[in-house]
Amino acid sequence: MTKKGNSRSINENFKNKDILSLIQFSPKDLRYLFSLSSKIKKVKNPNKLLNILKGEIITLLFYEPSSRTYASFVSAIKRLGGQTIDILDPRHSSSVSKGETLRDTIKIFATYSSIIILRHPEAGSAKIAAESTNTPIINAGDGIGEHPTQALLDLFTIYEKFGKLNSLTGVLAGDLLNGRTVHSLIAGLSKFSGNKLYLLSPKTLQLKQSDLLSFKNQGIELICINSKKEIPQNANFWYWTRIQKERFKSDAEYKKVKNKFIVNKKLLNNYAGRNTIIMHPLPRVGEIKEEVDKDQRAIYFTDQIKNGVYVRMALLILILNKKT
Ligand code: CP
Repeated sequence: MTKKGNSRSINENFKNKDILSLIQFSPKDLRYLFSLSSKIKKVKNPNKLLNILKGEIITLLFYEPSSRTYASFVSAIKRLGGQTIDILDPRHSSSVSKGETLRDTIKIFATYSSIIILRHPEAGSAKIAAESTNTPIINAGDGIGEHPTQALLDLFTIYEKFGKLNSLTGVLAGDLLNGRTVHSLIAGLSKFSGNKLYLLSPKTLQLKQSDLLSFKNQGIELICINSKKEIPQNANFWYWTRIQKERFKSDAEYKKVKNKFIVNKKLLNNYAGRNTIIMHPLPRVGEIKEEVDKDQRAIYFTDQIKNGVYVRMALLILILNKKT
């Protein structure tokens, strides 16, 4: 089936588009989305938003566990007056348990809803889903592939803090091989000039060479580092991530790398600047110590979480071409 906007560039027109990858977005598209996100964030009377998605039903089809992505989308939909079909763990709770394929499952829920938000353990699954229907698909994380809406909220958060998305220095740390949020974030920051990213990871969890080359070809400066001592002073942001246990073949392999890079007060004091923001897509599993949470530079439980709802509200409004 050929369709509407599958994998296509947004090109300042979000209507009916799938959201599969940050590659689809231009700086103009991001500014447009962020301008609406800011507008929604400033609304004083939330009741005013309740008619925007009235009558719309959106399916959340989550083959992998989620707290933030699932709940922030539900919150976004309900704040706009829409309703949800919630299929969590479809391998046990739906006819996927009887062998129904992803393509067939998507066709069914597409008939019941205006958008399908899909989380799936296999990279490329969101694209397969998008090819199976004319209903827009939002990739809510496809295995080790991408997590575009996480990157959108991360970029919005960085934009709010620094008023720009160019000429920034960032440190991205953790499991850069398997971490889908970093893949999307690097793709987003590659769209802007003058950005420099230090990629801190165990050697075995570095970004794939092919990805490194393809991002570098877009002009972004990427510097792979394997030791805390190589962290630059005064970066604009740190983006820490967990080691993705579920992507490892054995527990022993996971344990070898799990506690390699931990953010604590000492690391902050030694390498972060007064205005460095500390980000994490969460969940964390020990790689940021709780002692860091109270530091005003730590924004993973505050700005990032709140912005996830506003950016997702804006995205849904634009895909469904609703008036605000
Ligand atoms: N950041 C993120 O994707 O979190 P969840 O897995 O809880 O949705």
